[in-house]
Amino acid sequence: MSPFPDEVDVFTGPHWRMKHLVGLYSEKLSNTNFSNIRDLRSFLQSLLATFQEFKMHEQIENECIMELLQERSQTVYHVHADNKLSEMLSLFEKGLRGVKSEYEQLNYTQQLKERLEAFTQDFLPHMKEEEEVYQPMLMEYFSYEELKAIKRQVMLQHWSS
Ligand code: FEO
Repeated sequence: MSPFPDEVDVFTGPHWRMKHLVGLYSEKLSNTNFSNIRDLRSFLQSLLATFQEFKMHEQIENECIMELLQERSQTVYHVHADNKLSEMLSLFEKGLRGVKSEYEQLNYTQQLKERLEAFTQDFLPHMKEEEEVYQPMLMEYFSYEELKAIKRQVMLQHWSS
């Protein structure tokens, strides 16, 4: 439960959705039969949609929150600087273009599992950091009314797309 009033809490709502998506793909990761090419392709299609949503989430945070915060605090580094989401999307697209042999499919599946697990291990703490470090900074650098406007914008962008 966030300690910040909902009307100025810019991270928790969208993160609820992102964590739900993490839960869904983690479940599919355990249940997918990776030796069945149709199951693999269906999993990759759903990952593609999920990670496109993560990417949109990141863009909204950059534009609506982080760029504003960076203008006020010179100490804020670019939290979304690495290109992990694009790399994951390329990995899924590569799998959807097809694997040529059973051996290649085995290798690809192994890589997919490892990269997804590594991504999840970074993404969950990343969201926690935004909620626990960046939200208090926002409370410090912005007025309550400004934050209400930022929150409205963040929600609008997430749920109008
Ligand atoms: Fe809210 Fe940067 O993920």
